[in-house]
Amino acid sequence: MKRVLTYGTFDILHYGHIRLLKRAKALGDYLIVALSTEEFNELKGKKSYYNYETRKMMLEAIRYVDLVIPEENWEQKINDVNKYEVDIVVMGSDWANSDRFEYLNEYCDVVYLERTEGISTTQIKSELNINTSVEK
Ligand code: CTP
Repeated sequence: MKRVLTYGTFDILHYGHIRLLKRAKALGDYLIVALSTEEFNELKGKKSYYNYETRKMMLEAIRYVDLVIPEENWEQKINDVNKYEVDIVVMGSDWANSDRFEYLNEYCDVVYLERTEGISTTQIKSELNINTSVEK
């Protein structure tokens, strides 16, 4: 059983998310999504439109997703990989040119999947005029 793990906020679910989850699941047999909590999003300067429980419920309804766990900080990845016996961590291609997650290669494979062009939560929010950036 090959286990795949990916991270994200998945707010206002869109087809870019679904395509990412489909390709991530196809890399193995069991897909875990570590879903950013509201507190972690705040730390990143973001505020989601839907709260954690709602985003979790929607992800759990997707056939490619087997388990949703909370993403609470930047440092939890090694622990997640060990705890859930993860073989592959999937990141979006936006991280492909950084060495930020290279340290994980010691524990599992790290695969970068191309983002889907032309769609993002930020774009949807701006087109619908939903302002969820945190005032600093
Ligand atoms: N993703 C993707 N294609 C897109 C948008 C997102 O493949 N068009 C992937 C990201 O690379 C990430 C996962 O979906 O692996 C969750 O991304 P998330 O940041 O929650 O979605 P975005 O739409 O990028 O949200 P935002 O605009 O707030 O950054």
